[in-house]
Order: sequence, then structure tokens, then C-alpha cells
Amino acid sequence: MLDAGRTDETLLEVNNIEVIYNHVILVLKGVSLSVPKGGITALLGGNGAGKTTTLKAVSNLLHSERGEVTKGSIHYRGDRIQELDPAALVKRGVIQVMEGRHCFEHLTVEENLLTGAYTRADGSANIARDLEMVYDYFPRLKERRKSQAGYTSGGEQQMVAMGRALMSRPETILLDEPSMGLAPQLVEQIFEIVKSINEKEGVSFLLAEQNTNVALKYAHYGYILESGRVVMDGPAAELRENPDVKEFYLGMSDDGRKSFRDVRSYRRRKRWLS
Ligand SMILES: Nc1ncnc2c1ncn2[C@@H]1O[C@H](COP(=O)(O)OP(=O)(O)OP(=O)(O)O)[C@@H](O)[C@H]1O
Ligand SMILES: [Mg+2]
Repeated sequence: MLDAGRTDETLLEVNNIEVIYNHVILVLKGVSLSVPKGGITALLGGNGAGKTTTLKAVSNLLHSERGEVTKGSIHYRGDRIQELDPAALVKRGVIQVMEGRHCFEHLTVEENLLTGAYTRADGSANIARDLEMVYDYFPRLKERRKSQAGYTSGGEQQMVAMGRALMSRPETILLDEPSMGLAPQLVEQIFEIVKSINEKEGVSFLLAEQNTNVALKYAHYGYILESGRVVMDGPAAELRENPDVKEFYLGMSDDGRKSFRDVRSYRRRKRWLS
């Protein structure tokens, strides 16, 4: 049984990709995943696991980092997309929200949002309507719409980055580390908005997160990456109950989440899943 809103139609299919930086640094060692239409798919893993690299491989943003997909394939709706530039990908409905937000600091919040509509040719009335849709999801941005983006808070900038992506009317959003640097309450708020965008607009998400706890609460399906390999995947509800995931990523100790360092050194001893 699928959750409400999800279908069994596959949008994105990443098949066994390898990514190399600077011709020598092998970072992804055969990563495969798929993103169904209407789902929230989480890409989990610690620092340096390869989450951002995977998203950038999909949206063809590796060249500027001297990175290259050297093996495997990436398809969207059955079409090979590896040679498409990011703008062409946006036209097909796939947009990335980068890690660290990346607003245009000197533009206002509203001007930032409008830059998200630059590939659209369906007229200013539709764009104005979607701006109101973004403000419905992010009332805070409406209040701050005339503020210079560079002077807004981290949470507001995350909202601007997500709102700008929505302005392209995407089918799929690749969302990189939305929780980064935000207070727990704000993280929940951002994920609640992701959930309602998913449910009401039918937007599919592939979201990269170190915060396994919150990601598995909102995602339908998850992949866990370690050192450039998928070490486990499954429905989010199953991953949440998996003993290894609980121990290593959810930190089920009495005082809440274990620090990553504890988990890491323990993992070295146990060498799980190897
Ligand atoms: N431009 C680059 N050149 C060389 N190595 C890189 C480059 N970008 C990333 N790496 C390396 O690739 C590995 C994966 O990095 P990546 O940023 O994809 O991880 P991540 O899972 O997104 O981590 P984080 O949670 O810290 O954002 C790391 O070892 C990193 O040092
Ligand atoms: Mg990253």
C-alpha cells in the first residue's frame, strides 16, 4: 500500500553512478536510487557521505567543482539527463535548493522569489498567483518581502531558497540539508512546510539530510549513504525501527541523540554492514 498522494510512477532513476573529483578522488562508488512521483525520499548519512555530490550529479552541477560522473546513468521520466544544464532541467521540472541557501543578498525577499520564475513563459498573472501561493506556505516571507535578503535570518533564507524553487513550478525539488544551522523548532516548521507542499502541490522531494531523526519522520522512503555507497534503504517507517539505524543515527539513548563522534568511534569498532 502506498501512502496517500504517492504513485508507483518513477520520476528520477539514478543507476550505479560513480563520481570522481579532480580526476582522482573517487567519492561516489556506485550509488543507485529512485524517486517516485509524489513521494518524499530522504538521502541520509553523516558528514562527507556523498549526499550533496549525489544531488549535484543529478542536477549537473559537478563541473564547476571539477567533479564528473564517470560511470552509471541518471534518468528523469525515462530520459537520460546527464548532459542537460541546470536551466534545461528546470524546464523539465527538476530544481535544486542548494545547501547553505544561497540567496541573492542584495535583492529583496520578493525579488529573490521572482528570480525563481525566470524560465517560465506562462505570463505575469500566473507568476503573481504563484507568488501568493509561496506566501501562503511561508507567511513570514510575506511580512519580510521588502527586506534585503542578506539581512534576514537563517530560517528565513532557507524559506526564500525553497520559495524561489517553488516559483519555477517544479515537479521535483532536490533539497540539500534544509535543517542546517537551524534551531530544532524551526527545523520542524520547515519540514512541515515540505510535507504540505508535497501533499497539496504534489511536488516530489529528494532531500539530503544529516538529521536522520527529522528526515525519517517526514519522508516516505530513505537511503543511507556511507562513504559514497548506499548501505541501507527502505520505507522510512522500517528504517525508523531498524536497530542499526536507531543506534547509529537516531541515538536512542536516554539523553536523546548521541553525538556523531560517539557513534563513529563505535562504528569503527563494530564495522557494521561491512
Ligand atoms: N569539490 C570537491 N573536490 C574534492 N572533493 C570533494 C569536493 N566536494 C566534496 N568532496 C568530497 O567528497 C565527499 C562527499 O562530500 P559531500 O559534500 O557530497 O558529502 P555530504 O554527504 O553532502 O556531507 P555534508 O553532510 O557534510 O554536507 C567528501 O569526502 C568531500 O570531502
Ligand atoms: Mg552536503
